[in-house]
Amino acid sequence: MKHLLSIEQLSRTEIEGILQRTAELKSNRGKISAQPLAGQTWALIFSKPSTRTRVSFDVGIRELGGETIYLNAADAQLGRGELIKDTARVLARMIHGAVIRTYAQSDIEEFAEFSGVPTINALTDDEHPCQILGDIFTIIEKRGAIDQPSQGFGLAGKTVITYIGDGVSNTARSWLFAAGKLGFELRIASHKKYSPKKKLLERAGGRVSCTDDVATAAKEADVLYTDIWVSMGKEAEEARREAELGPYWINESVVKLAKPDALVMHCLPAHRGQEIDEKTFETHAQTIFDQAENRLHVQKAILVELSK
Ligand code: CP
Ligand code: NVA
Repeated sequence: MKHLLSIEQLSRTEIEGILQRTAELKSNRGKISAQPLAGQTWALIFSKPSTRTRVSFDVGIRELGGETIYLNAADAQLGRGELIKDTARVLARMIHGAVIRTYAQSDIEEFAEFSGVPTINALTDDEHPCQILGDIFTIIEKRGAIDQPSQGFGLAGKTVITYIGDGVSNTARSWLFAAGKLGFELRIASHKKYSPKKKLLERAGGRVSCTDDVATAAKEADVLYTDIWVSMGKEAEEARREAELGPYWINESVVKLAKPDALVMHCLPAHRGQEIDEKTFETHAQTIFDQAENRLHVQKAILVELSK
């Protein structure tokens, strides 16, 4: 594995390898461990705000022996129009890897191609692979057989994950590709305008259904998952999205339709009263904040894989 640019580009074996290493790194955190990034400096290049991703990568790289440089893309010459391919070739002379949060997926692909240094997608408009890998790890940790990869980490076959909200967001899209790779059932409940296009569903493969009826999608689900209605970069559509996505939220009556022990998950940040209600959020806060913590562990696993 040279880069981690999307779930789409990962094989099932690579995903399983990352998840297994995540378990090892999580249980060994704080004990003396290998420092595969010793002597390395990684750049964190962000064009959008971040709390979890920025901090978890910064901490994770340091725990693996490396150093970090944070670069707000707007403050770099990138913000004044320097080309990505030139920036990439300059930074490649100085850094050992890059973690990038930006808009277009093609920008991160271009950076990876021209820099040649390991490049990680820390969120684009298309995908949020580190988030979904951390979320899958969280589900397995709470419900599945992490030591039995051949059995699909407990996510294959019977597991039903229901995504409620903006069905064309970066997280929804990463879930789509994860379903195609791992074999669990994915249901997406969204307004028809925010439902993935047929072409994308065909490209992702897997057992995926889309509906505009939340109750149908939530019935007997193992996991109810949501993300904000207005992703970064979509602020101009805020009023329209809030009106159209109004019914697509997780609340107590939706939770009652799922399995009694269903996990309620949120990638955060949360907007109470929009994609989730306050009571449901707080009832499931343990899962949601475990999800946030697992970003650190899964990203360390990705960094280790890329340093090989
Ligand atoms: N979930 C997530 O990626 O959070 P940040 O935007 O805070 O990084
Ligand atoms: N879909 C959200 C995820 C935030 C972590 C966004 O892109 O803003």
